[in-house]
Amino acid sequence: MAKKLLDSSTMLVPVPAALISCQKPGGRPNIITIAWIGVACSRPPMLALGIRPGRFSHALIRQAGELVVNIPRRDLLDKVDWCGLVSGRDKDKFQETGLTAIPGQKVTAPLIRECPLNMECQLRHVIPLGSHDLFLVEVVALWADDDILDENNQVNVAHMDPLAYCAGVYEYWGLSRRLGRFGIGKKLSAQR
Ligand SMILES: Cc1cc2nc3c(=O)[nH]c(=O)nc-3n(C[C@H](O)[C@H](O)[C@H](O)COP(=O)(O)O)c2cc1C
Repeated sequence: MAKKLLDSSTMLVPVPAALISCQKPGGRPNIITIAWIGVACSRPPMLALGIRPGRFSHALIRQAGELVVNIPRRDLLDKVDWCGLVSGRDKDKFQETGLTAIPGQKVTAPLIRECPLNMECQLRHVIPLGSHDLFLVEVVALWADDDILDENNQVNVAHMDPLAYCAGVYEYWGLSRRLGRFGIGKKLSAQR
């Protein structure tokens, strides 16, 4: 199969589509959809988010020094997209979407109740990169709905039903089925 050289871009497929809740001290809470998000470190548990300086949420997160990463189910697709199309400068996104803000424990910004997984995060570093600033945040509290956990408190991904975003083609996808567990490749060494 021949390969074709394309223009350089961040064609990392898929990435999560997350709802970030944020709130300036004393202000009303806002939601921003973020797909430039990934794991940055295991210990301490840290995530990396790319946020454009012009976003309303950028200023809120910088001022508050905290945020909540909420992982939506597939059934929230329309709301996830909408929160990424309008600004909290103009709309109250909690009110307009009907999503429910509930208090967490470690940060002021609320959790989104309808999202089965929520990570309260504190801002540790902001690194300007170009179009986006890189926000490095530490997860200080992790919440999961009962119905996505098994008896050992392990997340059942099928029940979680997360959304994937495919950058470059502007498409949302769901996960279909489990293909295997970490370590499945060990059988290759056994065969050698
Ligand atoms: C699927 C999707 C992913 C997005 N990912 C990002 C992102 O990673 N970083 C970013 O700055 N904006 C991203 N956006 C755009 C913001 O969500 C959008 O500009 C939003 O209206 C900003 O809201 P705010 O002004 O209330 O902060 C994304 C939008 C969508 C629909």
